[in-house]
Amino acid sequence: MKKEVADLLRVQVNKELQSAYIYLDFYNYFAARSLTGFAKWYKQQSEEEVQHAWGFINFLHDMDETVTLTSVELDPKPYKDPLEILKAGLAHEQFISDSIRGIYKEAAANDEYEVQSFLKGFIDEQVEEEKNAKNFIRKYNLAGPDNLYDLDEGLLANKDHE
Ligand SMILES: [Fe+2]
Ligand SMILES: [Fe+2]
Repeated sequence: MKKEVADLLRVQVNKELQSAYIYLDFYNYFAARSLTGFAKWYKQQSEEEVQHAWGFINFLHDMDETVTLTSVELDPKPYKDPLEILKAGLAHEQFISDSIRGIYKEAAANDEYEVQSFLKGFIDEQVEEEKNAKNFIRKYNLAGPDNLYDLDEGLLANKDHE
């Protein structure tokens, strides 16, 4: 595999682990406020991101490429309300979508067909991730900031993402 492409895949491992860390930070915000449905949602997101990281790790190994891990950065913020977190979640997923498109573009420019094929699942996944993040914001706005109990209960009962 071309080094430029392999390097981008290695960096993506870090970005997926960073995603897991960000969602863990979100989990802590909601768990501390007894919004257990919101907390559950972000715990699931965090676990999914670790699985994404494994996807990239396994693919690199399958292709006989090395995997080098680097520190996971986190800039914990004092979020002012849940909506700020929901918006940060969407912005982060858009950043990840951009990153994956960038790898795909580089793979295509280098005729790396296996990488392009591998990335297709992640491109589809990002459509789902952005859709979920946008729906979450819409539902939050429908409920309103003073009426989160029902939304939280609904998330707690949600079996879709278990
Ligand atoms: Fe991811
Ligand atoms: Fe994600």
